[in-house]
Amino acid sequence: MDSIHIWGGVALQGEVCIQGSKNATLPILAATLLTGECSYIRNCPRISDVYAMISLLQSLGCIVNWQENGILVDSSQVRRGEMRSEAVRGMRSSLCLLGAMLGRCSEVVMEHPGGCVIGSRPIDLHIEALKQMGVEFKEEAGLLKASADRLHGAVICLPRSSVGATENIILAGVMAEGDTELKGAAREPEIVALCRYLECCGACIEGIGTDCLRIKGGRTLYGTDFEVPADRIVAGTYLLTCIGTGGNLFLGKAPWREMEAVTNLAERMGGKLCISEKGIYVQGPDRPRAIECITTAPYPGFPTDLQSVALAVETVGDGNTVIEEKIFENRFRVVEELCRMGAKIRQLDASKVLVEGVPVLHGAAVEARELRGGAALVTAGLMARDKSSVSGCLYIYRGYENICRDFRELGARIISV
Ligand code: EPZ
Repeated sequence: MDSIHIWGGVALQGEVCIQGSKNATLPILAATLLTGECSYIRNCPRISDVYAMISLLQSLGCIVNWQENGILVDSSQVRRGEMRSEAVRGMRSSLCLLGAMLGRCSEVVMEHPGGCVIGSRPIDLHIEALKQMGVEFKEEAGLLKASADRLHGAVICLPRSSVGATENIILAGVMAEGDTELKGAAREPEIVALCRYLECCGACIEGIGTDCLRIKGGRTLYGTDFEVPADRIVAGTYLLTCIGTGGNLFLGKAPWREMEAVTNLAERMGGKLCISEKGIYVQGPDRPRAIECITTAPYPGFPTDLQSVALAVETVGDGNTVIEEKIFENRFRVVEELCRMGAKIRQLDASKVLVEGVPVLHGAAVEARELRGGAALVTAGLMARDKSSVSGCLYIYRGYENICRDFRELGARIISV
């Protein structure tokens, strides 16, 4: 099941319920290591990155089971941290196990985490910050060895926004001796969810949701029952796809409070939105309006994870659009594939592309090379006037529970093979 076939040109109609957030679930699963007890994490998405995280937790001695739409984690039998598996290499989000294992066992050996091909994905911010907390690092034969005789609090200033580094500092900080003050913390909603889970476990964190966190160390953490919020990137993917295909959708449970930059863009593109506690209703325009410039930024700016989908939609915009990617250095790999479908896109420099809107895309055989670019190709296939096939869909299944089922239930002619 590594390809998706789409017969496009259908306006989407209907209602879809948004899955739990991948990027909140992963650090929260890592954080369950800190309690040494049982935690039940509800609303977890059934996606391959979560399955990989589960196998990593099991390799560390956790007992992990799905129960209904949640995951029960018993971390009472956790052994010293040795993670050498395919999952670590291929999954950037395993990096948050670094902070969790240092907090639990004061040492960890892991393969240098990989992730998608959207950039070099260095970990210098993680390492420099954890060193300030007493962690020593050694790199030997592709392995990252971290240990701390005494993990202690510190005053840390991150020079630039990093979701993962912020998560690792929080995970180590709640277990460190003494308090940690983190300036320049990322403010993504997934970090807020992590902090709320840790508070439910007994942690004390001030400034949640701001760029300055004060983390009380040395507290005993207990297992708890916690619900993961809905995935704002999946909701944004479906919202923008409706702008590109036309039609009207109701996105049930969409976390609209965390999506202001996305809903604003959808309205500027010509969408008509009605937002309620239960979700977002969107009616797409006949043709998306071209937006002069769409620039990605750390939260609450426009999310980099929706840049490729916005790019796909603007390929049929009613004019020219500049897309500027300011978070990752190589997040335009989908351009080549969109051009196979008749899009007119020109790279202006390393961080900018110019899109000249065309009336309609045509179908083609295209290849996904990473998660969000793959979702953008599905969006483009749904917008195109005839048949497309998207290969490399295992990337897409890392973050979307069942993108084919969801779009099929909205009237699209789409199958996975
Ligand atoms: C998280 O990745 C998300 N992944 C990404 O979502 C998301 O795009 C990104 O945050 C947004 O910033 C998960 O939560 C699992 P960063 P992360 O640290 O933590 C550079 C998806 O599709 N950097 O905020 O890896 C880095 O190279 C994924 O769901 C350093 O230079 O991102 C990037 O250019 C893709 N040194 C920028 O900072 C470091 O030590 C932001 O990275 C760390 C990061």
